Amino acid sequence: MFDRSERGDRAVILCPTPMQRDLRGEQPDRIEEFKELVTTAGAEIFEIITSTKQSIDPKFYIGSGKAEELKQAVEANQADVVIVDASLSPVQERNLEAFVQARVLDRRTLILDIFAQRARSYEGQLQVELAQLKHMSTRLVRGWTHLERQKGGIGMRGPGETQLETDRRLLNARVKSLKGRLDKVMRQREQGRKQRKKSGAKMLALVGYTNAGKSTLFNLLTDANVYAEDQLFATLDPTVRQFTAIPGCSAVISDTVGFVRDLPHELVAAFRATLQEALDADLLLHVIDDSNPEHRDHMKEVYKVFDELKIDDVPTIEIYNKIDQSGHPAEIQQSQSDAPDKVWISAHKNTGIDLLIKSIEERIHRTHLTLKFVLPMNLARLRAQFYQLEAIRDEVIDDSGQWQIEVELPIEKWRQMAKSAEPSAEFVNNLLAANHVTLDENSQDW
Ligand code: GTP
Repeated sequence: MFDRSERGDRAVILCPTPMQRDLRGEQPDRIEEFKELVTTAGAEIFEIITSTKQSIDPKFYIGSGKAEELKQAVEANQADVVIVDASLSPVQERNLEAFVQARVLDRRTLILDIFAQRARSYEGQLQVELAQLKHMSTRLVRGWTHLERQKGGIGMRGPGETQLETDRRLLNARVKSLKGRLDKVMRQREQGRKQRKKSGAKMLALVGYTNAGKSTLFNLLTDANVYAEDQLFATLDPTVRQFTAIPGCSAVISDTVGFVRDLPHELVAAFRATLQEALDADLLLHVIDDSNPEHRDHMKEVYKVFDELKIDDVPTIEIYNKIDQSGHPAEIQQSQSDAPDKVWISAHKNTGIDLLIKSIEERIHRTHLTLKFVLPMNLARLRAQFYQLEAIRDEVIDDSGQWQIEVELPIEKWRQMAKSAEPSAEFVNNLLAANHVTLDENSQDW
C-alpha cells in the first residue's frame, strides 16, 4: 500500500522526547523499540534525531529549527523516508514532506505498514487493508481538500465529480466489499469456534507483548511449524492447534498478534476479531520476556488492552520466558486467589516446560467444574440456559422422564447462577452445596 523502493528504504528517524521528568528514564528503551519497529518494516536507519520540544508546532509538529536539521540529515544521508515516533496530523505530514523532500511516515502509518507486510491469513489481510483504508480516508478528507474541481467524465470519475469525490467513492466501495468478505470469514471462524466449544475442548490463548516468545512457545507446546523470527510482529494472525500434553484433556492453543506500546486505536478495533480467540479463551497464557528490563511496562500495556476488550476476568498464567538470558531459575508460583499463576521458563532452551504444563493442567481443573445431576422437568428454562452457554456435555432422559445431564462451566459461572434472581438459583445453590462448592470465591473447599 505504501510505495517502497527496490533497494530498501534509507531512513532518518525522529524521536521526540517528552519533557516530563518521570518519562525520561523510559526513553532509551522507547528509542530502541522504535528502531526495531523501523527495521522490522524493512527500512535501514542512517541517522537518529531526537527532539525535546515541549509544545507541538502546528506546521511541522517539530519546530522550524529541528525541521531544518531533519532536512540536512535527509540530504546528507540521501534518505528517502523520514519516520517520526509520534502521531502527525495529515497537514503536518504533508508540510514536513514538502520541506524535507522525502516521504514522511508517522508511528501509526509505520505500524499499519508492518501489519500489512506481515498478515498471512486471508482474514488478517482483509483486516489490515480495512484499517489502512480507514487511515487513508482521514487523510483524504483533511489532506486533499485543496484539490481543484476537475471536469467530469474522465475514466472512472462520475460527471461533475472532483478527484476527491471520486477517491472517496472508490474508497467507500472498497471498504464495503472488504467488510462483506470479512463478515463471511468471521462467520466461518465463529462456526469453528462453536464446534470446538461444543466438543468441550478447552481453549487456551497465547498473548503477550511483541517478541516475548509466543510463537516459539506455541511451536514447542503444539509441535507445529509456525513462523517465528527475531522480528517484531512475526505473528499477526492467530493460528489454532491441538494441545495434547495433558492426558484426557482435549484442548487447543491459539497464537495471537503481539501487542505494542501505543497501538493505534483504529488497529485495536480492527484486530479485535483477531483477538477473538483471547476473548473466548478458558485460559490466557501471557508470555513475558523476563530478560527485557522493561517487561513490567510491557505487561501493563497488555493488561490495558485486555481492559479495553473486557477480557480482564479470564484466568491467566503469567509465563516469564527467556530465563536463559535473565538468569531466573525455572520455577512455579501458584496463586491462592484469582491472581495469575506465575511460571519461569525458557521456550528456546526447553527449560521449565514441565512446570508450565503442570500449571496449565492445574489451572484448567481449578477454574472449571463438571457436574452430573438429574434436572427436574420444571427447570426446562435452566436447561435452555445451559444450552445457550454450550455447557451440556451429556444428556439422557431416564425412565421417569427426567433429564440426566452433565454440565461443565467455569466455577465463577456456577456461582453467578446460584446467586441470580432466577427461580432456578435455589436448585443450583443446592447442587453446589452437595458438591462442596461454596459461594465465596476465595474459598477452595470443593
Ligand atoms: P511477535 O510475533 O512479534 O508477537 O513475537 P513472538 O512473541 O511470537 O516471539 P517469537 O516466538 O517470534 O520470538 C522472538 C525471538 O525471541 C526469537 O528470536 C526467538 O528465538 C527468541 N526467543 C524465544 N524464546 C526464547 C528464550 O527462551 N530464550 C531466548 N534467549 N530467546 C528466545
